Amino acid sequence: MYVRKEAALSSEIEGTKATMSDSIRAEIEMTKDIPEDVDRILHYIKAMNYGLKRLETLPLSLRLIREVHKTLLQGTGDAPGKTPGEFRRSQNWIGGASPQTASFVPPPASEINQALYDLEKFMHDTSDLSPLIKTALLHAQFETIHPFLDGNGRTGRLLVTFYLCQQGILERPTLYLSEFFKRHRRLYFDLLEGYHNRNEIVPWVNFFLEGIADVAAKAVDTSKKINDLRETDMAKIHALGGRRSKTGMAVLRNLYKLPIVNVGKVAEWAGLSRQGANTLTAELVKIGILEQRNRKTTYGRDFEYRNYLRLFTKE
Ligand SMILES: Nc1ncnc2c1ncn2[C@@H]1O[C@H](COP(=O)(O)OP(=O)(O)O)[C@@H](O)[C@H]1O
Ligand SMILES: [Mg+2]
Repeated sequence: MYVRKEAALSSEIEGTKATMSDSIRAEIEMTKDIPEDVDRILHYIKAMNYGLKRLETLPLSLRLIREVHKTLLQGTGDAPGKTPGEFRRSQNWIGGASPQTASFVPPPASEINQALYDLEKFMHDTSDLSPLIKTALLHAQFETIHPFLDGNGRTGRLLVTFYLCQQGILERPTLYLSEFFKRHRRLYFDLLEGYHNRNEIVPWVNFFLEGIADVAAKAVDTSKKINDLRETDMAKIHALGGRRSKTGMAVLRNLYKLPIVNVGKVAEWAGLSRQGANTLTAELVKIGILEQRNRKTTYGRDFEYRNYLRLFTKE
């Protein structure tokens, strides 16, 4: 869920309409009323998992970044004409209809290779600069180079998690820094602009560190709340007794990954018939674990594990 939250918010910074809940519903094939751009979130999750797995065998490198970019874009609405997995060979710009009116024109394609080569060296440099400060510089430098035709913001934010995981600062990808960036989106962009236009490196680094502190504190709080909730809800299910507590527990375990379900999913997770799953679902509603989402429908009902979902959606 932490990855899902980061994926949704990082995509939202780029104007994605779909939400974290939409991405869960898409995964269990509840396709009704889901914005098409939910693809971006699903691909973001894929790219995050791909990159983390790849880091087990390949150091953080330009090659890994290209592979991640490919996973992120290929097969989504952003892919056409944007050469997923390849660094750009033409000029690009941010904002405005042409480079003349743009808010930022990154370096020409001919300079990218050298700049990226330096960036890769910086990733592997072992000076005693704090890894968090290095991460801040890495992100800003990556956005300054803007090496892809599209997807630079998202790839650059993925890089933050990859670097911190590779450095052993993060054990698991539980940091959703994009929540902070999204909350201060204007300032985030302005500080990136100051970083490369006016050499205002310290304000950027301060902002980045403030974001890490803010989001880390929240993540710790969230994980405590998850533990408490899990204990309470396991006890509730246990109290059901017998077979019901066994199937209920199987469902609960899965709800921490996908907190929105339908009866079909409950049947699959609990190994029950549709009828058995209906009864179990009703039971889980009764003890306050599941709540029906769309109250009007009786056919194709969705249920959510609201107390859990809320820990990730309220700010
Ligand atoms: N003035 C700026 N200078 C440098 N980078 C910027 C500036 N404004 C925005 N950005 C970065 O560029 C990203 C957008 O680039 P883009 O290639 O469209 O990425 P994505 O498709 O992932 O949004 C923003 O998310 C931000 O990280
Ligand atoms: Mg874009």
